[in-house]
Amino acid sequence: MNVADSEVVVSILSKQGFKLTDEISDASVILINTCSIRENAEQRIWNRLKAIRHLKNKKNEVIVGLIGCMAERLKEKVLEAEQLVDIVAGPDAYRDLPVLVAEAESGHKAVNVLLSREETYADISPVRMDKNGVSSFVSIMRGCNNMCTYCVVPYVRGAERSREPGSIIKEVRQLFKSGYREVTLIGQNVDSYKWEDKGAVTEFPQLLEKVARIDPLLRVRFSTSHPKDISDDLLRIIARYDNICKHIHLPAQSGSTRILKLMNREYSREWYMDRISAIRTIIPDCAISTDMISGFCTETEEDHQASLSLMEWVGFDFAYMFKYSERPGTKAARKLKDDVPDNIKTARLNEIIALQNRLSAKSKRNDVGRIFEVLIEGFSKRSDEYLSGRTSQNKIVVFPKGNKRKGEFVRVLVDRCTSATLIGKISDNK
Ligand code: 5AD
Ligand code: SF4
Repeated sequence: MNVADSEVVVSILSKQGFKLTDEISDASVILINTCSIRENAEQRIWNRLKAIRHLKNKKNEVIVGLIGCMAERLKEKVLEAEQLVDIVAGPDAYRDLPVLVAEAESGHKAVNVLLSREETYADISPVRMDKNGVSSFVSIMRGCNNMCTYCVVPYVRGAERSREPGSIIKEVRQLFKSGYREVTLIGQNVDSYKWEDKGAVTEFPQLLEKVARIDPLLRVRFSTSHPKDISDDLLRIIARYDNICKHIHLPAQSGSTRILKLMNREYSREWYMDRISAIRTIIPDCAISTDMISGFCTETEEDHQASLSLMEWVGFDFAYMFKYSERPGTKAARKLKDDVPDNIKTARLNEIIALQNRLSAKSKRNDVGRIFEVLIEGFSKRSDEYLSGRTSQNKIVVFPKGNKRKGEFVRVLVDRCTSATLIGKISDNK
């Protein structure tokens, strides 16, 4: 999400003559795009600000801006807390950045944290900052209406709004034309994508299908799906198109129905399991990943065991795992007590991580001996003699390069794996 936002910001500023630099000491404007989702994300930003203070001391005319979710959450407080910051711009205020920079240049602090009901930056062609030129994110919606009690996103990114489908298709076509071979459609909850125009409704399954039809050589991914909304219709579209990747990120957060209720996730353990069974039936070869939170308010050992048993039952291929971090202003912060001691949150998180390591290893071992179509993203980290790419299931595969190049599809026979990577060889030259 933040990468996609930064690309929009670069596009807006480029039109006004600004140029992107890789060298921070050359910059006359430094914008830090921020995330507020967990406290440690914000802590990293404070540290980053401290780290760039010397640049401001050296070159007082350098302008420092804090943009994105943390700007939205803390608003003017950022200006007061750190004398360093000149601009504060929330996630819906990026179009205003040229004006804010000019204001800061004339010596005034510049703030815009207005949230919008409409802004999707649909007409802005993001300037791609990825270096590989093979895969890219495309934002299809902004904001979230879900109100999970632990989550700050609805407060800092505002209400949900979908982007006009024509502009999405145009952007993806353009990416394909310039050599990209994979797009990931992103939104806080892609399943609730909805666009109405003169009575014609486009929902996520139809949008996904339209994108998949742009070209069979374009892989399509999407994230994030919400378990309460993921429909059989969507699963059938995924199954129908070879170029829609067989990987669904479906955050469970907890395996305990009682905790899910307190989190306001609007589904039960059984509902989640039913959705997993539907995925397994409709898309037999689909990888499934999750987000898990340990130590949410009132979580007991029994609730924690329910999370572990759910993870085991699903056999997730991958997971992002977090310790609950209370966020000011959320419903949980206002109404529930953050009563699980930190050492217990950590111990539970460690158990979750240990289990996931085992599940991820098993998922990779199951791939050994099989042939996968891999989209090559570049050289492997360790050696230019090896290429690296991903399977449709989103697993990284490394293999000797032969005569292949990045951006090409290749069939690879997996012959072994490490904890993070599948290793194989090109199985034919088709
Ligand atoms: N504490 C811990 N994890 C959180 N997440 C969101 N809010 C919090 C919080 N307050 C996690 C959820 C979500 C992911 C993006 O971040 O698991 O799916
Ligand atoms: Fe946050 Fe829940 Fe929305 Fe995800 S669905 S962004 S966790 S409120």
